[in-house]
Parts: sequence; structure tokens; C-alpha cells
Amino acid sequence: MPDRYDLPAGLRWGASTAAYQVEGAVDEDGRGRSIWDAFCERPGAVRDGDTGRTACDHYHRWPEDVALMRELGLDTYRFSLAWPRVQPTGRGPANPAGLDFYDRLVDGLLDAGITPLPTLFHWDLPQALEDTGGWLHRDTAHRFAEYAALAADRLGDRVPAWITLNEPFVHLVYGYALGLHAPGRTLMLDALPAAHHQLLAHGLAAAELHARGREVLIAHNLTPVRPASADPADLAAADAYDTLHNRLFTDPLLLGRYPDLTAYGLGPDPDLGGAVRDGDLALIAAPGLDGLGVNYYNPTRIAAPTDPGLPFAEAPIEGVPRTHFGWPVVPEGLTELLLTLRDRYGAALPPITVTENGCSTAPALDDTPRIDYLATHLDALARATTAGIDVRGYCTWSLLDNFEWAEARRTYCHSTAAPNRGPPGGSGPCLRTTTSR
Ligand code: GAL
Repeated sequence: MPDRYDLPAGLRWGASTAAYQVEGAVDEDGRGRSIWDAFCERPGAVRDGDTGRTACDHYHRWPEDVALMRELGLDTYRFSLAWPRVQPTGRGPANPAGLDFYDRLVDGLLDAGITPLPTLFHWDLPQALEDTGGWLHRDTAHRFAEYAALAADRLGDRVPAWITLNEPFVHLVYGYALGLHAPGRTLMLDALPAAHHQLLAHGLAAAELHARGREVLIAHNLTPVRPASADPADLAAADAYDTLHNRLFTDPLLLGRYPDLTAYGLGPDPDLGGAVRDGDLALIAAPGLDGLGVNYYNPTRIAAPTDPGLPFAEAPIEGVPRTHFGWPVVPEGLTELLLTLRDRYGAALPPITVTENGCSTAPALDDTPRIDYLATHLDALARATTAGIDVRGYCTWSLLDNFEWAEARRTYCHSTAAPNRGPPGGSGPCLRTTTSR
């Protein structure tokens, strides 16, 4: 394990959270209902029936959490705004009490010398918008831009840079294609319009933020894709997966065009189920991103399909350690990912901020696995910066043990700052044991 890293001197250190995973207070101060409130009520949807009702109680205990950040010496706190706190039904005037919470948090961070880096959408869509079609409905993109403008009008004087969306790929696939996350739809390839409408929302919101002189980032969960063998069928399958997982989102943003998914048998038409209209791509790509957020957890190994439904199959990554969730630990994948992005996009690649990276660990006092994980990933990051990749920040997942979506269990997962700071009366160990991504 290295004891120092050749990282750029000005690199900004941070930690990340997401509103539904940490805030709790779901019924307070006029917050509307989100798709995660609804999803958690479905029997069997979330492990052990857990919910984010209390989570880490960040809504009330944020001063304590900011004190932890200060103690850690963080430069940046990446958090998300709960859209239903700001606009309870996803449209219309802002709920002042909801914005007041973020106003207090931003001021508290600035007083502690920490730069706020908010994400506007980390998966908790107002349920009222889901009722009219959610991200399958083009109007949701326009509603998102309206929400972005309300948030920036209130906080933008103190918040220089904004992340529009978190991991649109995961929201598309887990939320709309497979039904493992909220809103729990199982549309498979018919979910593709939700990819375009999220990107359109990004483009429309970026215009609002840029008009107010703010910088714009988007955070993607990107993965280096490794073919299971040199067999042409495995290579073709890996190419198909890479296109769906990575290029579907970064090509339109950085090159102004979608990859042709139909060439891989993915989707009914090149316009993602008829969702793409004239002018949309110009909006999505222009006037450019100020930074690309990269969430890195692990590579994906892909083999030729075993059933006719999709043109690829996921193959296990053997011979590497695994996190408590069962996710493979492959630090060099981070270097590989960043170099691939540069090869693919060249001068169009904006500066990178690692917006998530971290591991779940067992509920034990031995912190060695987590320290090793972070040390080896920082070394991998240093290899990328030494190779000339412009990396501006590194935010680990997560600041606090938190509600882990469909896998829930609220303590001991991905802890960074406060290993055993669960919710009051928090539950036992994180039980996630299988790899999902
Ligand atoms: C990411 C997600 C986070 C968190 C993390 C793993 O995909 O953005 O909210 O769930 O995975 O703990």
C-alpha cells in the first residue's frame, strides 16, 4: 500500500451523500412524497422493509455532521437536494421551508470552510410526477429545469457549481427497466425514453444554471468493460454493454450524438423509442459541461449472451477481494476508466471530479479493509493524474452510514467519517452480499 500519492496539489477532498439516504424527516416542513417513499412501502421491495423515514436524521443533525466534516478537513460536501422538499408535487412555486433547510446547510458548510456541491436529482422524484409518467414523460424534463432554477435562485449566490443528475444509467436500468429501485417499473428496453428525458432534463437545467453564471457537472456511474475472453462473441458482447452503460450517456453530452443502440439489438429505433426530437441533442451537448462527475466502484466483465433477450451477459470477476456488498475490488479499474475516457473523448473531455468511490465493510472495529480500499484507489487515481488526466476533486462514498436503497440496512455501510454513527436506534449490519454492479 502506498503511503503517499502523486496527486495534484489543488485536488479537493470531499465526501458524498444523497437526500433520501441520509435526511429522514420525510413528513416535515411540507416535503412532498417521493417515489422512494412509495417504493419502500411495497412489501419485499426493500430488504427487511427498511425505509428512509429516519435514515441518518441529517435533516436535524446536520450541524453535528458538518462538525464531523470540519474535523476530517473536507474541502467539499457533495449532497443532494430532495426535489419533493423544494417542490412537493414537482411543479409550481417553491416550498420555502424546504429551501430553508438547504439554505441553513449551505451557510453552515461555508462557515466551516467547506464548499457545498449539491446534486439536484439523486433518484427521489416527486411521486406526483411519477403519477404522470415520471422520466418516461418528456414534460418531466421541463419540470426539472424549473426546479433547478428555483434552487439556483435561492442558493446560487453561495453555490458555485451544481451536479444536475446522479447516475442516470442506474436510475434507468434499476428504476425503469428491471424494477429493483423506485419507481419499480419493469419495462426492459421500453424504458429507453427515460434515458433521453433525463439527459434532456440535464440540458435544460444546465441552461438555467449557466444563465446564472454557475458551473454544471453531471455524475455518472461509469465502468470499464472487460470482455470475458478474446472470443469475437465475447468482444462483441462487451462492446454492446459498454455502449449501453457508458456511451449512451457520455456520447450525447460530449459528442452531441447518441451511439446507435439498434446496431446491438438494443432498442426499437435510433431515437430511443421515438423520444429524441430535433434540437434535443444540441441542448444536451451545449454549451458544454464544466466537469464530469465519475462514480467508480468496479469494472464489469461481459460475455456473449446466454439468452436471446439481451446481447450480453455479465460474467463474474474472479480472483479479487470483495466488499461487504460482494462488489469486486479492482482499484486499477479507476485508472483504466479515466484513460479510456480520454482516449474516447480527447479534448471534449472536461475536468473530472470523482464524485463517488468507496466500499461497504463488515460491522467490525477493524478499519483495515476500508483504509486499504481508499489507499489503493487513491493510488490508482494518482496514476491517472500522472498520465495527464485533469482531476479536480475526489469525494468518497459516503460521509455517513446510510440507507442503501433496495438493500437498505442503515448502519455500517460505506462508512467514512463516522463508522458507527447510524440513525438513533439504528439496525444491525449491512446484509448486502451479492454483486449487482
Ligand atoms: C451509487 C449511488 C449511491 C450509493 C452507492 C453505493 O450507485 O449513487 O447513492 O447507493 O452507489 O452505496
